[in-house]
Amino acid sequence: MSRFPITLARHIIEKQAAHPTATGEFSALMTQIGLVGKMIARDLRRAGLIDILGMTGEINVQGEAVKKLDEIANETFIRVFQHSGLVCALASEEMEHPLRLSENWPHGKYMLLFDPLDGSSNTDNNMPLGAIFSVLRHEGHEGLPSESELVCQGTKQVAAGYLMYGSSTVLVFTVGQGVHGFTLDPGVGEFFLSHENIRMPAKGSVYCANDGNYYKWPKETQRLLDYLKALDTPSGRPYSARYSGCLAADVHRLLLAGGIYFYPGETGKPEGKLRLLYEANPLAMVVEGAGGRASTGVMPILEVKPKGLHQRVPLFIGSRDEVTLAEQFIQGQR
Ligand code: AHG
Ligand code: MN
Ligand code: MN
Repeated sequence: MSRFPITLARHIIEKQAAHPTATGEFSALMTQIGLVGKMIARDLRRAGLIDILGMTGEINVQGEAVKKLDEIANETFIRVFQHSGLVCALASEEMEHPLRLSENWPHGKYMLLFDPLDGSSNTDNNMPLGAIFSVLRHEGHEGLPSESELVCQGTKQVAAGYLMYGSSTVLVFTVGQGVHGFTLDPGVGEFFLSHENIRMPAKGSVYCANDGNYYKWPKETQRLLDYLKALDTPSGRPYSARYSGCLAADVHRLLLAGGIYFYPGETGKPEGKLRLLYEANPLAMVVEGAGGRASTGVMPILEVKPKGLHQRVPLFIGSRDEVTLAEQFIQGQR
């Protein structure tokens, strides 16, 4: 008889049982992340039928035009966690400053940083979207955390993961004991374990990058792409190009099949586009937890000492061999 499918809640409880010190709060937090995923997936399924596509007309702290779905996704995270009792502060790509949740104090001991909707350029054309989240513990006990307490090095994360809204809705996360994936069964509104203990192939055959920026890249990055595209069958080249416009979706592909995603610095913008605290750090924790690597090209993402909440970093993330190769090119060793 086939095993009864393992729900998100059961998986967390079983994992939690292995850690007697774990309290129920963390399990509840992950279940709430699942609720956010269900709510946003529901909105996305009907997006073309209700007035939630297009722009709000606002510009966010990133200097980017805000999509209606960016705002809806951000509001969904806030509404779900505002009265959860679990989280004492929220930091979002869509909010200039963190939202401190006094209603959850002093009980809530977690801090949640998130990109509520990743891949926003895809919202109006039904292409993949995601959300990326990072969980920190609030160590201070004298009161709600200050903004600076959220600006932490990636090694401080206690959990991290992403939601991916594609042909199915998937939740992938790690608490530092393996990387596990859950697929939403919309028929019953439940996430079931579908990818237990994901291990990323050490080498792949795909690269995910926006080649359109090639002439904005430093020559070291251009040479990396030239190498990946060169015709050399014995070394498995050329690599195939796959770029969805959604970091979470591309990383999900690479987590399962191997390869590399990179959004490098540009000659006029050496820090690149992606944000350290709620894009690079959480995905680095996931990918490295599955045996892959994440680098700025010069140093591991998880070792970057952040200076600000919305700090950007160049990102090379994926299979161990390809990220190591990328570092050799970026550092001028090849
Ligand atoms: P966001 O939608 O949260 O701003 O993130 C978009 C990111 C990432 O998801 C994607 O890989 C990349 O930006 C796409 O950028 P370009 O359109 O410049 O290639
Ligand atoms: Mn993003
Ligand atoms: Mn976003």
